[in-house]
Amino acid sequence: MDKLVINGGNSLSGRIEINGAKNAAVAILPAAIMASKGTCNIDNIPDIEDVHCIERIIEGLGCKLVRGKNSVVIDSTAINNVNANTEDVRRMRASYYLIGALLGRFKRATVELPGGCPIGVRPIDQHIKGFEALGAKVEIKHGCVTVEADKLIGTNIFFDVVSVGATINVMLAATLAEGVTTLENVAKEPHVVDVANFLNSMGANIKGAGTDVIRVFGVEELKGCSYSVIPDQIEAGTYMIAVAACGGEVTIENVIPKHLESISAKLIEMGAEIREDGDSVTVKSSGKLKGVNIKTQPYPGFPTDVQQPMSTLLTASEGRSIINESIWESRFKHVDELKKMGANIKVEGRTAIIDGVNKLTGAVVKATDLRAGAAMVIAGLIADGITEVLNIEHIDRGYPNIEDKFKALGADIKRASYSE
Ligand code: EPZ
Repeated sequence: MDKLVINGGNSLSGRIEINGAKNAAVAILPAAIMASKGTCNIDNIPDIEDVHCIERIIEGLGCKLVRGKNSVVIDSTAINNVNANTEDVRRMRASYYLIGALLGRFKRATVELPGGCPIGVRPIDQHIKGFEALGAKVEIKHGCVTVEADKLIGTNIFFDVVSVGATINVMLAATLAEGVTTLENVAKEPHVVDVANFLNSMGANIKGAGTDVIRVFGVEELKGCSYSVIPDQIEAGTYMIAVAACGGEVTIENVIPKHLESISAKLIEMGAEIREDGDSVTVKSSGKLKGVNIKTQPYPGFPTDVQQPMSTLLTASEGRSIINESIWESRFKHVDELKKMGANIKVEGRTAIIDGVNKLTGAVVKATDLRAGAAMVIAGLIADGITEVLNIEHIDRGYPNIEDKFKALGADIKRASYSE
């Protein structure tokens, strides 16, 4: 297994480039299997384990893939399997998008219930409600979801909770339904818009993505297209927070600054300087910022996916900060690891109360999940002495070349192997 070994204390400077968005890519790859003609040429695909995993899964369904550096060509014309039940399917959350994609194209699918980061209960009742409203019969047996329909018919669906996954999944199926589907109380995340844009490039007719109401005008078939995935808002936010914590000045390139506004606003409130310029943001920080309160919310609110990295920054900021995690009830598993490094954090339910400390000290810690891993890397970068972050397979699921990117900015960080 691999670990990251970090000798903390360096400030960061220079430029880095952000890769394509994980949470867009892991939905766009399943969406590509809906093309019954032509090939999908997809660019700006991040080189991360979650993407490799989805690629293996769709290959298992009969898609032909030609991989390039950060790109893939997918020929899904000869799909011969609508059952997804491999170890890879169980490993990742986004495999639930296969249900919507296969239901749309073939009107049936059997997919094992997905796994993913252990950050909360993660129900899929809203996905199921949407599929049923479109006319599908949904059955859950022996850990598998089976969906089946003679035909899908457009309808009005009002989601009870704002869910990225349910919005995308039901949109996928509705694309090939008869008539118009109106989805209300939908997620507005940039990756929801990106998936809608991708489907429209394939011949779908989807309007309103990025607002509270999405209208899907059903079409008969989808075909291949060329598409470039949007930059990863969460990867960018993680590096912005790292620069704010370590001090220094870094330009983060290949981003859409609009997608980062809630993060930029918090960093400015804490005393960092942020400059936006076209497709880059520059973060300048003294490394000693003041604490703030955070409440995670669906987009355009502060994203839950950078809450954990942010908690590391708040740990080393002045005064008291309070984090309210309103999306995932178990997204504070990294707190015990931060405490090993001297953090002063008390967790009460969905709230973390953080009293800033002068210094963190290096320790051997674990990445308990993907974003927790990023939080521990940032902790290592600001701590006195050596930090070893174990279980970095979680980090490799979502951050391409994390050690190379930090090294290029002046951090003392290296990957090493270890055995348990
Ligand atoms: C997506 O998960 C992301 N994953 C998560 O990112 C992210 O944290 C989350 O959206 C919120 O932004 C992917 O895109 C693969 P949700 P998803 O459905 O779609 C409740 C990361 O770190 N809910 O928007 O699974 C649910 O319990 C990962 O990259 C229901 O009640 O999240 C949660 O409280 C981790 N019923 C809230 O909605 C449902 O049917 C939002 O979940 C679905 C969700």
